[in-house]
Amino acid sequence: MTPDTGLLETINGPEEVRKKGKSCVMNRRSFLLTSGIATASVMVAVRTSEGLAQVPAVVATYPRKKIGKLSELKTDQPIDFNYPDDSVYSESMLVKLGREAGGGIGADKDVVAFNYTCTHQGGPLQGTYQAADKALGPCPLHLTTFDLTRHGMFISGQAYQSLPQVLLELDGDDIYAVGMFGLIYGRYDNLQG
Ligand code: FES
Repeated sequence: MTPDTGLLETINGPEEVRKKGKSCVMNRRSFLLTSGIATASVMVAVRTSEGLAQVPAVVATYPRKKIGKLSELKTDQPIDFNYPDDSVYSESMLVKLGREAGGGIGADKDVVAFNYTCTHQGGPLQGTYQAADKALGPCPLHLTTFDLTRHGMFISGQAYQSLPQVLLELDGDDIYAVGMFGLIYGRYDNLQG
């Protein structure tokens, strides 16, 4: 799946998209300089005594991280990875559902990825994948279950926010994590782990 330009600009910043097109590719220098999180320069309007002025600002953007190969995925067998960093609450899972899903990539649009932390009070969802329902849960704390075919929407339980979905991109056989939909539990900003 290739996200549209507007979405990529939101995730990566307009400067990065202009330079790299729709590929979200980060260069090695940016990666090393920012410990895995790219930066982009944007112009921000600031009010001064003369009126509004445009000033440059640097904002953090999501890393592009290879998390697996499409040909190696087996239906209903999740693969764990960390994203967008290796800090707390970054544990996530990549899975081929065998059923078309919102945000899914691959020929059958059935490969998706989600953060493992319950949006209610941070319960761990590792090991709770339900192949029959294509869901994560029930959460061990208050039993919320999330639908992985519908952008992590909660099916039942105490949570009222969807599970954050990792935005995926396919490059040949390689699967990359390139952004996120939704806020990771315990963070005020997904990029501030
Ligand atoms: S922490 Fe998961 S349902 Fe409460």
